Amino acid sequence: MKTLIYYFTGTGNSYSVARQLAEELGSTTLIRITSKLPEENTITGYKRLGIVVPAYMGSIPEMAQHFLEGLRVDAKTYVFDVVTCAGNEGASHDAVRKILDQRGITVSAGFTFNLPANNQTLYTPADELKQAVLVRQTKVDVREAAQVIREEGTTKFTPSPMMKYVSKMAGRIMIPKDSDKNFSVTDNCVGCGICAEVCPAGNIVIKDGKPEWQHHCERCTACMQLCPKRAIEFGSRTKNWGRYHHPDVSVNDLIIPDKDSFVVNSVNKISGEDKNEHERNV
Ligand SMILES: Cc1cc2nc3c(=O)[nH]c(=O)nc-3n(C[C@H](O)[C@H](O)[C@H](O)COP(=O)(O)O)c2cc1C
Repeated sequence: MKTLIYYFTGTGNSYSVARQLAEELGSTTLIRITSKLPEENTITGYKRLGIVVPAYMGSIPEMAQHFLEGLRVDAKTYVFDVVTCAGNEGASHDAVRKILDQRGITVSAGFTFNLPANNQTLYTPADELKQAVLVRQTKVDVREAAQVIREEGTTKFTPSPMMKYVSKMAGRIMIPKDSDKNFSVTDNCVGCGICAEVCPAGNIVIKDGKPEWQHHCERCTACMQLCPKRAIEFGSRTKNWGRYHHPDVSVNDLIIPDKDSFVVNSVNKISGEDKNEHERNV
């Protein structure tokens, strides 16, 4: 009864949900969506496929959209999607469904979980008590969702009125790839390279002991949130703001190992029947 879950995460909220689902469902392979994934991914031999993504500006990260555009799945596979957000998923589920529909893939069930807001390029994090309440409630909700998934149930989908305003272009306008020019590094930086290692977009190189952003940023905020020296700022306001990552997810959990270099050629075949050396089973 194998399940495959692809997830995009910057600060661990979506990863924490994907990981809990894997634990609840058993026999689950988790794969992180990063720039190291190939353009096309063909999924065979899995009974269930899950997509777990955060809401970004009323839609989903562009990298996640791009990943979905290259997905092929066995017709019989049960597909579910999960959006983590900070209170307003907007048209995120619509975005997932629109792309998958075009690929002939039907999403049977969708779930939204509210978790602490992580966009600390725009605002300071919620206080720790509020974060703890959201995290605790989500654990309960994920357990219930796992039950629906286990039974291969369906959920009602109501299209968001926002959908007609949300497109790939909208994301690009609101999160331009070169908005990373607003990141800067303070003298606290020790050149440890963690910012580069946690970046799902592979957007950071360490040059002369300091990070340099390469202008293909998803704005996931992992670099600034996970810096152990709190040495990364975005614009001038963040020096007075706190930092956030999911309390049950460690920096190590978010480091993208070198062996995640999936690209063999441009097409990847993930089969639940053959053990793939890149898979991580839970
Ligand atoms: C660039 C950006 C845009 C976001 N846009 C939204 C949004 O439109 N609605 C919302 O509720 N939360 C939004 N958030 C908050 C995240 O969706 C939320 O905190 C999510 O759980 C983060 O997941 P992660 O920790 O797996 O990266 C945004 C966060 C970022 C970084």
